[in-house]
Amino acid sequence: MEEKQTDVSLKNVNRIYRYMKNDLSIEDFMEKFHMSYSELKGILELCRIYGKNIDIIEKDGTLVFKKTSARNTISTKPELNHKNLIHTELCVVSDTHFGNIHQQLHLLNKIYEEAYNRGISTVLHCGDVVDGNYTNRPEQPRQQFLHGFDEQAGYVVDMYPMVKGITTKYILGSHDETHYKNGQATINEWVSRCRPDMEFLGQDNAALTINGVKIFMDHPGGGSAQSVSYKLQKRIEILESSYKPKIMLIGHYHKSYSFVYRNIRGIEVPCLCDKTQFQQKQGLSNVVGGYFLNIYSDKKGNIQYFEPEEVLFNPKDMWEEAGKDHHKVKQLVIK
Ligand SMILES: [Fe+2]
Ligand SMILES: [Fe+2]
Repeated sequence: MEEKQTDVSLKNVNRIYRYMKNDLSIEDFMEKFHMSYSELKGILELCRIYGKNIDIIEKDGTLVFKKTSARNTISTKPELNHKNLIHTELCVVSDTHFGNIHQQLHLLNKIYEEAYNRGISTVLHCGDVVDGNYTNRPEQPRQQFLHGFDEQAGYVVDMYPMVKGITTKYILGSHDETHYKNGQATINEWVSRCRPDMEFLGQDNAALTINGVKIFMDHPGGGSAQSVSYKLQKRIEILESSYKPKIMLIGHYHKSYSFVYRNIRGIEVPCLCDKTQFQQKQGLSNVVGGYFLNIYSDKKGNIQYFEPEEVLFNPKDMWEEAGKDHHKVKQLVIK
C-alpha cells in the first residue's frame, strides 16, 4: 500500500466531518475510509484545529462518534469501560530458522522472558520454526549447523524455550515444509510427542479464537514486495467477508508492519534470525523482533481497542558472528 497523503484542507476536513455522524461506530468509519486508528486520531486533531469538536465515546460496548458544541473538549483517546471489556495480552514471534548459523535463539529467549514477566500465557509462532533443507539450494548446508530432519526437529524439542505458564501455538512455514517435500517428515510430529507446551495448529495457516477474538495466522510462500505493506494487504483482500478474522498475523517476509484494513488488524511479524546469505544475495531486508498485543474486546469478540507493541532488536543486540548463537546459547527453562 502506498503511503497515503492526507488532504488537510478545510474543504476535505469538512467532507470527512460530515460522515462522522453521532453514534456511528468508529470501526465502520475506519473501514469505509480504509483508515487506521492513528490516521483517525490525526483527522480528529485537524477537526479540532478547524473548530469542529467531536468526541469518541463508548456506547453499548461500541466506540462511536459524539459531536459536541463546546470547544476544546475533544478527546482522541477512547474512554474505555474496562469492566465490560475482556483484556487479552499475547506475544507473537516468527521465523526462528533453527539450524541456520544466523539463528538468534538468545533473542527468542529474551522475548519469552519478557512474556513471562508480563504474565502472558500464549505465544503465537507464525512459521519457519526451522531452516529446512532446500534441494534446489546447494549452498544451504554451508549456512547451517544442523543438517537434515532429525537434527532440526530434535533441536526444537531440546532448545525451544520452556516457560512455566506459557503455551506456544505454532504453524509451520515454507522452510519447515521442505522436510515434508523431501520425505514426508513433519516437525510437529516430534514436537507434539515431546513438548506438551507446544501446540501445532497447521501447515501454512490456522484460524483460532482466543477470548472470543478470531485470529488468523498465515505463512505464505513467494518473494517479498517493494512496499512493506503490499503482501499483507493482498492477503487480507483475498479473505472472504464471512471468514474475516479480527486479527491477521503473517510471517515469512521477515518484515515488521501493522495496520487496519477491511476492519482487520494486520500484523507482519518480524523474524528472529539475522540476515542469511540467501537474503543478502536476493537483496532482501531483514527485521528482527516480535510483537506484544494488547487486545480489549467485547463479549461478541469485537475489538474495541488494540495496541500492537513492536519490539525490535538492533544490530548490537544480535550475535552477528556466524555460529556464536548456537555455540553459546542455552535453552531457556523457567519452572
Ligand atoms: Fe522465513
Ligand atoms: Fe517462509
